[in-house]
Amino acid sequence: MIQTWRLDGPQQTLVLSSNDARCPQVIYWGPPLPPSEDLNELAAVGTLDVTGGMLDQNPDLSLSPEAAGSFLGQPGMSLRDAQGTPLLPEFSLCDVDQKDHALIVTCEDKTNHLTYIAQIALHPETGVITLTAKVKSDRLIHMHWLAAPVLPAPQTADEMIDFSGRWCGEFQPNHTPWSAGIRMRESRVGRTDHAHFPGLIIPCRGATNTSGNAYAFHYGWSGGHRMVAEELPDGRRQIQFGNATETEHAPANVFVTAPLYVTYSATGLNGCAVAFQRHLRDNVVPWAKPDTPRPVHYNCWEAIYFDHDIPELKDIATRAAALGAERFVLDDGWFGKRDDDTTSLGDWQVDLRKYPDGLGPLIDHVHAQGMTFGIWFEPEMINLDSDLYRARPGWVLGPVDQIPGRQQMVLNMALPEVCAYLYDCISTVLRAHPVDYIKWDHNRVLPMPDAAQTHGTYALLDRLRADFPQVEIESCASGGGRIDFGILTRTQRVWLSDSNDALERLSMQHNAALFLPAAVTGSHVGPRHCHTSGRTLDIEFRAWVAAQRHMGFEMDPRELDDHEATVLRDVTDWWKTNRDWMYSADILRLDASDPAVIAEEQLAADGSRFVVFAGKTRNSSQIAPRPLRLTRLDPQARYEIWLRNRGSAKGLSRGALALKERSITMSGQALMHHGVTLPWSFPDSIWVLEGHRI
Ligand code: DGJ
Repeated sequence: MIQTWRLDGPQQTLVLSSNDARCPQVIYWGPPLPPSEDLNELAAVGTLDVTGGMLDQNPDLSLSPEAAGSFLGQPGMSLRDAQGTPLLPEFSLCDVDQKDHALIVTCEDKTNHLTYIAQIALHPETGVITLTAKVKSDRLIHMHWLAAPVLPAPQTADEMIDFSGRWCGEFQPNHTPWSAGIRMRESRVGRTDHAHFPGLIIPCRGATNTSGNAYAFHYGWSGGHRMVAEELPDGRRQIQFGNATETEHAPANVFVTAPLYVTYSATGLNGCAVAFQRHLRDNVVPWAKPDTPRPVHYNCWEAIYFDHDIPELKDIATRAAALGAERFVLDDGWFGKRDDDTTSLGDWQVDLRKYPDGLGPLIDHVHAQGMTFGIWFEPEMINLDSDLYRARPGWVLGPVDQIPGRQQMVLNMALPEVCAYLYDCISTVLRAHPVDYIKWDHNRVLPMPDAAQTHGTYALLDRLRADFPQVEIESCASGGGRIDFGILTRTQRVWLSDSNDALERLSMQHNAALFLPAAVTGSHVGPRHCHTSGRTLDIEFRAWVAAQRHMGFEMDPRELDDHEATVLRDVTDWWKTNRDWMYSADILRLDASDPAVIAEEQLAADGSRFVVFAGKTRNSSQIAPRPLRLTRLDPQARYEIWLRNRGSAKGLSRGALALKERSITMSGQALMHHGVTLPWSFPDSIWVLEGHRI
């Protein structure tokens, strides 16, 4: 007997079927099916043939493929009983509860005393589907691996794109051809990490940013994930995501995966990106002050490092406010005896050598400049040279002789007394002062992956958020080491990278936009001479690249000459004028025909206006710029477009281009099909093209 279920939204339909009351499998995921579709016929037509050398029937690629059911690939779970004997479940379907756009599938294995529950919810307003899996037992079991509900991958794709990276080089895409066997990614470092962003995109043959079919996945967990993209000998493909293996160290009766976020797009990679951007911004992030515009940040790290001096900080704050900053963030160095990075993590008491009257006088000054005040913590860490370690050596996670990272160790967040201590330290500062922002850092990997760490950190964040709902939190981990929808369920901003090099940021932001909206993506105008790359970049390029996302400054404002200060004020004013519509705009990656150009279009939710940022990363191979084609405009509408920074055209741009003189009007069709030819420009520069529908 065949049973079927379907979930529908404007972007996609997902169909599941169960044969003879076995665990259901996804038999269709793609563009919306007509309501009249006969799902039994769909199941029938998808049945694979059998030939020589095959089993007499093909095992299901179910929501949790079963090792004991002759499945020829990776199983959806790997469990043992308390004595260590493997449990090899074979599930029977008990119940499917369907409400609106959600399914709860319950299966049982009576022999092994196991219940499997898959929750699948389609969010029609964003185009994202969320999936979680739970396994329950009436006795204690060990969990080695539990995949979120497993999905088939298209056989029309030639490659897959996942992401790696490094400190100051986050969000590097890897293009891997599909072939028989497994592409496996696993973060075993106990955090999401720069090297292991938990995302996957499967572009079908011919897909680009702006057209074609694509599927995308993101696993919302901060403790390190495992991804399996496998092609079976029969050609079927499966995608599994879950927590990194063997990270639940204790036996339990219940294990749950984090949410897997997925989406299908018929409009290229941008269709996936827009679904994730909207879903994260509108359904995941718990905005502390939803009606307040994103404030322009000033962060003092690259200006002063550990060298805190109140008169200097006040001077910097005054200048930052005059440039347009609205939130002043006091970075590392205000506590303990933290004169460098060898000491004091864990001693979250104000350093009275640097702040003899506490933080109050600096905060008062910041407020007097019209800015709010934010402060840095790195709660999960401890230095051996700290009062905390001297008092509580047993709070360190892992062996004492482990290799330190940045001279520091990790606190054992599974210990309730550790979380209670951290709550007291942080809440004392929040109660004593009007702080509206925490930058929450995490500067080393764990000595071993351990899910209890992540559960402990999540619980601490949840407790602080419940007691201080007005305080916004940024997830930073040496830059982009902890960026995922799990941490963003509890925080409002990510520090994408410790690189404030605008050239590097341009490509990182471009790739991160496949998952992240502008509202959560911190981007700062760095020093003239970049501290992490050694590059020297002009203020215009630095300012506009920061203005692509949640804008801030991080240079010492005392280094700015008059021209630089003028440009920075101008771009900041532009950002403030436009931030309301840009908050809910979609970031659309453009298919630039020139590989030297990285370009995106931010399109207002109502389609009435847009801004295009076209960055030039190097000299082009051809001598003149190629036209840049826009996307998602109304082909019949007319748009007035103008180059916001046309005054920046260099002398070597000698042609008589209308855009260098005035605005022009074109149809959406012409802008999308032919495109706009921008003036010639130097590498490390950016054109900002604005447009509105008339
Ligand atoms: C790493 C962060 O990414 C930096 O922005 C800064 O906060 C330092 N840590 C402080 O130690």
